[in-house]
Amino acid sequence: MQKLKVNGPVKLSGEVAISRAKNAYLPILAAVLLTDKEVRLKNLPDLRDIRTMLKLLENLGVTISKDGDTTIFDASTLNSHEATYDLVKTMRASIFVLGPLLGRLNKAKVSLPGGCAIGTRPIDIHLSNLEKMGAKIDLNAGYVEANSETGLKGVKLPLTFPSVGATENLMMAAVYAEGTTVIENAAMEPEIDDLANFLNAMGAKISGIGTSKITIEGVKELCSTDYEAIGDRIEAATYVIAGLMTNSSIKVTNFNPEHLEFVLDKLKEMGAQLEIGKDFVQVSPSKLKGAKIETAPYPGFPTDVQAQMVALFTQVDGNSFVKENIFENRFMHVPELMRLGAQITQEGKAVFIEAPQQLKAAPVMCTDLRASAALVLAALCAEGETIIDRIYHLERGYENLTMKLQALGATIEKID
Ligand code: EPZ
Repeated sequence: MQKLKVNGPVKLSGEVAISRAKNAYLPILAAVLLTDKEVRLKNLPDLRDIRTMLKLLENLGVTISKDGDTTIFDASTLNSHEATYDLVKTMRASIFVLGPLLGRLNKAKVSLPGGCAIGTRPIDIHLSNLEKMGAKIDLNAGYVEANSETGLKGVKLPLTFPSVGATENLMMAAVYAEGTTVIENAAMEPEIDDLANFLNAMGAKISGIGTSKITIEGVKELCSTDYEAIGDRIEAATYVIAGLMTNSSIKVTNFNPEHLEFVLDKLKEMGAQLEIGKDFVQVSPSKLKGAKIETAPYPGFPTDVQAQMVALFTQVDGNSFVKENIFENRFMHVPELMRLGAQITQEGKAVFIEAPQQLKAAPVMCTDLRASAALVLAALCAEGETIIDRIYHLERGYENLTMKLQALGATIEKID
């Protein structure tokens, strides 16, 4: 089991280029299943979840090749409609193939994604709305079996919660549906806009992009396209916070700061010295005070930046309060941060952080992707040598993390 060894406290400097967004490319990769024409995707990030999705596509019959920084997909002949448990259990996002397979083949058999550390993560919103489109859904032996002999029909789909995954699955299922599908109370994350833009680039007819009401006119076929996803706003937020926690000057580039507006506004409110450009944020040493945050669907404070903020709040001058409203168990980083000396008390879905605290190195353990990022950030500030275990969680969502932090001046290395 690989570990990270991190020495602190450290000052960072220089520039870090953000990779393409995992949470944009995962549904886009699933959408490749919709077309029999060639699709070329640029700068796929080299992440475990991306590699898992590529394996899943190959198992379904997609031919994949590389041409420099472009990955080429040929889904002209699919030889299966089944996403098996062995793959789905390692990555919940496999459920994204349900919509495209149903839309193109009128049938799909996808293993029910298990829960994960941060919550049970049901898919009832995905399934109930596919049924409204005419799919017959059965749950057998841990599999979702979906069939729509006569094809899916466009209908109005008022979502009971603006679920990111459900919005994406339903959007993909609707591309070939007969008539018009209207998703209401749709999630509005930038990754959803990116998926819609990718589908439209292939000839889909999607409007209302960026709003909570997305309309999809069914089409008969899609064409070939080249595409590159948006920068990863969550990775970017993680590095901006790394700069602030270590009181450093660093430049975070190659992403759209408009996708982080709520986070950057909150950080500035706390006293962060940030210069915000078209495709970068320049962080300068800042005197930060505590704050109150509550996670919410976009454009609210993103739950995927909550753990990183809890780490930051241990280093500010004053106390802070964090409420997690999206997932039922997303404070797994708290007990690990307390091993480093953080003073945090948890009451249900909220935590209270007393600060500032001088963190002290200790062995800690990753539990989920963003909690792991919080531990790396804290280790950059903790006095001494911190060993972080189970770092496979990190490799799901942070491309070349060790290299990028080393380039910024961190003393961090992988050890066995
Ligand atoms: C996506 O997960 C992201 N994953 C998550 O990022 C992110 O935290 C989440 O959106 C919220 O922004 C990908 O895009 C691959 P949801 P998803 O459906 O689609 C409940 C990361 O760190 N819900 O919006 O699963 C659910 O239980 C990951 O990169 C239902 O009840 O999120 C949760 O409480 C972690 N029924 C809430 O909605 C459903 O059918 C939000 O889930 C679907 C969801």
